Amino acid sequence: MNLTNRINIFGLEDIPLVKKGDNIPKLLLESLNKRGLSILDGDIIVIAQSLISKSNGRTRNLNEITPSEKALELYKKISSKSKIQGLPIKDPNLIQAILDESKEIIKEEHVLITETKHGFVCADAGIDKSNVEGKETISLLPENPDQDAENIRKEIKRQTFKDVGVIISDSFGRPFRIGSVGIAIGVSGINPVLDKRGEKDLFGYELQTTMIGQVDSLASAAQIVMGEADEGIPAVLIRGYKFEFNVDAKIDSIIRNKEIDLFREPISEKLIKLLKNRRSYKLSFENKRVNRNIIEECIEVARWAPNAHNRQQWRYIIIENNDLRIKLINKMNRKLKNDLEKDGKSQEFIEAKIKKTKNNFVNAPVMILLCLDKLELEKYPDEERLQNEFILGIQSISASATYLLLAFEIKKLAACWYCAPLFAKNIINQTLNLPDSYVPMAFFTVGYPLSNVQAPPRKELQKIIFEPKI
Ligand SMILES: Cc1cc2nc3c(=O)[nH]c(=O)nc-3n(C[C@H](O)[C@H](O)[C@H](O)COP(=O)(O)O)c2cc1C
Repeated sequence: MNLTNRINIFGLEDIPLVKKGDNIPKLLLESLNKRGLSILDGDIIVIAQSLISKSNGRTRNLNEITPSEKALELYKKISSKSKIQGLPIKDPNLIQAILDESKEIIKEEHVLITETKHGFVCADAGIDKSNVEGKETISLLPENPDQDAENIRKEIKRQTFKDVGVIISDSFGRPFRIGSVGIAIGVSGINPVLDKRGEKDLFGYELQTTMIGQVDSLASAAQIVMGEADEGIPAVLIRGYKFEFNVDAKIDSIIRNKEIDLFREPISEKLIKLLKNRRSYKLSFENKRVNRNIIEECIEVARWAPNAHNRQQWRYIIIENNDLRIKLINKMNRKLKNDLEKDGKSQEFIEAKIKKTKNNFVNAPVMILLCLDKLELEKYPDEERLQNEFILGIQSISASATYLLLAFEIKKLAACWYCAPLFAKNIINQTLNLPDSYVPMAFFTVGYPLSNVQAPPRKELQKIIFEPKI
């Protein structure tokens, strides 16, 4: 057995309030000195993240943060959940700080469960409002806690000639269990995980899977001495725990690989859900502007669709919500009325159809016209190949349109593809003064949804996979 049956934990008191630039190893050694303790080889020093963050200047003033649209949106979502539970409401500036520190928001409840840029999954990106002076000051996790731990370990070695393990700790809540516990967010000199696979258990059976999260256990033990908030013991010395000294140890070896993490939805499943959840949204949109840069980001994605000869035959025109759009829709509706009258439809039917079209196209926050640029089509001497080339163009722009709709879905925008431009090509070209080579093909209305849309049924698989009987 590598584990000892007795360890001692000494709280390092008398560490003054730390400011940016303070020398942490010096403060630790002074505190040890005051307690009459000297460092021994194999000691472990656990230091609270707040100490490191403050000395690194990793704090922010909430008043100096401007929330983005995403932060405001999250604020709306999570504040209602907090209210229901009677919990404190996070302001949008704090939400912005959380977003700035995160790679991914995993859950949006009264709390935000995020994956930090280091890969830690925790509440609110590990941002702390306690243990920092100033009501509006928050402390962020250190940018590179392993590096901080290494700097401290090396400085202790330089001053004492002793090899120690250093752990930077924080307290994280846990899924499935109540109560936060100490965990390690940075290490030096000590492996995060003690691999006991291959060793024998009490009955002589070989351990197949046992990996001990030793630095988290040590951080948790340390936390009992450190306390959570006001105890003023931001570091401890652990003596008596036997571990293999390793200068190459890194905290990321304790982070479970996403592919084997049973609690994360694999990206492949997320993608399939996204593909199936996309709906044509034909209802009223929220009265909210859609930033042009979001639309451009989606069109940027649509550029990556497969397309014949890589000629990228698509052209996108973003039609602002202004007089020109109204003029265009009115002209298109006049033609629609004519066409329907020729079809012998009743005035009632025609009026309802025109009203619906006007509503759809005039009220959408964004409308996009997709054209096929004939200049991108290959030239052939015969009619058949010219015709096929035109079809290839249509197939290509359709692939791009599909990418566009999926990009909107990712951005939580609702959209619908309309074929109306096909029936008013000349009107569109003239009104928008488009190049002659542009063939209007589709409109997309885009905005934030107000309601959910039920999925229309799909044909059974057996009905769309045709087995030729040969
Ligand atoms: C080429 C094409 C043209 C379409 N034109 C219209 C249209 O003019 N009006 C409309 O309401 N929906 C239109 N749609 C949307 C379809 O009605 C919708 O995709 C279909 O009912 C399946 O629903 P879903 O997209 O929610 O899966 C069009 C879709 C495509 C691909």
